[in-house]
Amino acid sequence: MTKPKILIQLDGDDHASVFDAVVAVDSDIDHLFQYRSVQPEQVRDLVHGAMFTRGPQDLHNTAVFIGGANVAQGESLLRATADCFFGPMRVSVMLDANGANTTAAAAVLAAARHVDLSQSEALVLAGTGPVGQRAVRLLARAGCKVRVASRSVDRAAATCEQVRGKVDGALLTPLATSNSQETAKALEGANVVVAAGAAGIELLSAETRAACSSLRVAVDLNAVPPLGIGGVGVTDKAVDQNGVVCYGAIGVGGTKMKIHKAAIKKLFVANNLVLDAEEIFEIGRELEAAS
Ligand SMILES: NC(=O)c1ccc[n+]([C@@H]2O[C@H](COP(=O)([O-])OP(=O)(O)OC[C@H]3O[C@@H](n4cnc5c(N)ncnc54)[C@H](OP(=O)(O)O)[C@@H]3O)[C@@H](O)[C@H]2O)c1
Repeated sequence: MTKPKILIQLDGDDHASVFDAVVAVDSDIDHLFQYRSVQPEQVRDLVHGAMFTRGPQDLHNTAVFIGGANVAQGESLLRATADCFFGPMRVSVMLDANGANTTAAAAVLAAARHVDLSQSEALVLAGTGPVGQRAVRLLARAGCKVRVASRSVDRAAATCEQVRGKVDGALLTPLATSNSQETAKALEGANVVVAAGAAGIELLSAETRAACSSLRVAVDLNAVPPLGIGGVGVTDKAVDQNGVVCYGAIGVGGTKMKIHKAAIKKLFVANNLVLDAEEIFEIGRELEAAS
C-alpha cells in the first residue's frame, strides 16, 4: 500500500511560516509536521526520525521543507539535513527560506521570456537581500552580466564574492546606488532591471527608468507602496510600457506560487532530491515549457 506523503517543515523562526504551511497543504501532501525555532544541532534527531521509520522503498513519501525568514539560517539547516544522509538512507529536501528561491526563480524566468539572458546585462537593485542575492545567482548562472547594486558598495561586493563561490566565472560588478544619479548611471546600457528592495521603498523612479533607452525588461518584487520601480503596476505581467516589458510583484507572484507548489510535489518523486535555487529555477523552466 502506498504510504501517505509526509512533509516535515523545519523553520528557524519562533513560529513556523503559515504561508509555507498553506502552500504545502495545497500541494497535495497528506500530513504536515511542523517544527519551529529549529537550530542546526537539532536537525539530526528530527531528520533521523524521517529516515529510519520507513523502509528505503518508501522514503520518497517523506520529505523535508526548510523555511524561515533568515536565508543564511535556512542554508545552515539545509547543510545539517544533508549531513544526516548516507547511502540510500535519505529523503528529498527543499530550501525556500523567506521565499527567496521561488521568488527569484519567478523573477528571472519573467526576464528570460523577453531577452536572451546569456547575451544580457542586468542590474539587480538591492541585490544584497535574500531575494536579490538569489536573483543575482540565477542570472549569473544563465550567463548574464550582472550589476549588483546596494546602498553600500561593500555589501554589493560581499554578495558578488558569495555568488562567485556558487557560480564559476560569474560576471558580476558591485555598484553603489545610494541616490538617483548613481542609480541612473548603474542602469546605463542594461537591458534588464530587477528591483529586489525592501517592502515600501522606491529604488528606481519612473523618470530614470524612462530615460534608459537600452532597457527591455523591468521586474519589481516589492508589493508594498511605494513600489520599487516607479510606474510599474503591482499586478503588471508582461505589460509593455514604451518598449519596456514590465512585471510587478503580484504579476511575478503567480509564477512563484506555481513553482513553489510544483517543487513540493517534485519532492515526492524521489528520495534523493535537493532543491535549492538552481533546481527550483529548473522546475520553473519545465513549467514554462509545458504551458
Ligand atoms: N512577489 C513575491 O512573491 C515576493 C516574495 C518574497 C519577497 N518579496 C519581496 O521581494 C523584495 C525583496 O525581499 P527581501 O526579503 O530580499 O527584502 P529585504 O531583505 O527586506 O531587503 C532587501 C534589500 O533592500 C535594501 N533596503 C532595505 N532598506 C532600504 C531602504 N530604506 N532604502 C533602500 N534600500 C533598502 C537592502 O539592501 P542594501 O542595504 O544593500 O541597500 C536590503 O538588503 C521585498 O520587497 C519583498 O517583500 C516578494
